[in-house]
Amino acid sequence: MSKTIQPVRGMNDILPEQTALWQRVEAAARETFAAYGYGEIRLPAVEKTALFARSIGDATDIVEKEMYTFEDRSGESLSLRPEGTAGCVRAGISNGLLYNQTQRLWYAGPMFRHERPQKGRYRQFHQLGLEAYGMAGPDIDAEVILVSARLWQKLGLTAGISLQLNSLGTPEARAVYREKLVAYFEQHQGSLDADSKRRLATNPLRILDSKNPAMQNIIADAPVLMDFLDAASREHFDVLRTMLDTCGISYTVNPRLVRGLDYYSRTVFEWVTDKLGAQDAVCSGGRYDDLVELLGGQPTPAIGWALGLERLVALLEQQTQVAPANPDVFIITSGTAAKMNGLALAEQLRNALPGLKLISHCGDGSFKSQFKKADKSGARFALILGEDEVSGQMVSIKPLRDKDAEQHTCSWKELPQQLAKIVN
Ligand code: HAM
Repeated sequence: MSKTIQPVRGMNDILPEQTALWQRVEAAARETFAAYGYGEIRLPAVEKTALFARSIGDATDIVEKEMYTFEDRSGESLSLRPEGTAGCVRAGISNGLLYNQTQRLWYAGPMFRHERPQKGRYRQFHQLGLEAYGMAGPDIDAEVILVSARLWQKLGLTAGISLQLNSLGTPEARAVYREKLVAYFEQHQGSLDADSKRRLATNPLRILDSKNPAMQNIIADAPVLMDFLDAASREHFDVLRTMLDTCGISYTVNPRLVRGLDYYSRTVFEWVTDKLGAQDAVCSGGRYDDLVELLGGQPTPAIGWALGLERLVALLEQQTQVAPANPDVFIITSGTAAKMNGLALAEQLRNALPGLKLISHCGDGSFKSQFKKADKSGARFALILGEDEVSGQMVSIKPLRDKDAEQHTCSWKELPQQLAKIVN
């Protein structure tokens, strides 16, 4: 006997009982993006490996150890996308969308990272993201944050999520800070864990992100990037803060928020939650003013964010209930003539009542077993077609939920009107 094939570790099936909530999030996001003038871009799931190495950074965890990289049949190194920003910039350049213009774009889809799977962290996960190009001022920073806040509001997510904000300054300011930070951590070499020792040489700012409790005291006393910001970045950050204050968006300035991708400059932010355990970032983003040029385009300021759908849905599951999408009607038939007429009748009902959710029983089965299925489906009404009904061009309508309501008959002709009345 053949052994069953297991799913790939960290890659999940999302079943119909879960997709209702996913669809609600996706619909709310689509409406919200449209309300701010963002257009959808659909990007390939596979890009050249060099795109990610150059944009996310060779020394980042994502590029160093998490990418699904393979050679295709012509020997080219390709990777499954670990995130959407690099591909979005590549597409913007490839299609001439960025030069001398502004763009507001959004995308959705699966991303792939070979991380150690745990709650909220998967190897295939899904992002909804947006990116805005060609706007250098803090007003667009405020706008992208407002889009996310409006999405939470639309979804009824009012508690359990909060905004953290930081500025990374320009690459020059960051280089000065990096030297100070390395000098500081070198003084404390003895207290660094293995991961931080490695990062000291490759990506010292990421040490600040360490979750290791034993590292927290050294991190708390480390120099703070905010003290090294260039004047223009400081001004940008101050105006952004005033804009958020004016629009009633609360936030915390977190000087340790550095993000795990190399392309950021100036504003970075993260919506975090205390309701999901260790994987607490629901939506993250920031400004990446140098990336378009780095990838071969003209210098173009840019900012964006991406949310993790699995995490957002998990958070919503704790706060909202989605009514199961039960059918309105389940059609039960007995005999060949009834089956034929039942199928035709179902089509007529779907034509007349486009919102109606209707299941036709397919296959054989006694009335009794069909009733059991109708009941299990959660349908509110069973339509019964037996030989008598067919000869009289009638159906019997049996309410399945309301115990006091009586079964009654109705002519085929009047059925759409009847159903419209009782279903709504
Ligand atoms: P990121 O922080 O790597 O940023 O990912 C964005 C979001 O995706 C996270 O906040 C989290 O909710 C979700 N996420 C990340 N990794 C996983 C995983 N393994 N399993 C489940 N969810 C995950 C970016 O990807 C940037 N491209 C965001 C951006 C857009 N910055 C500017 N524009």
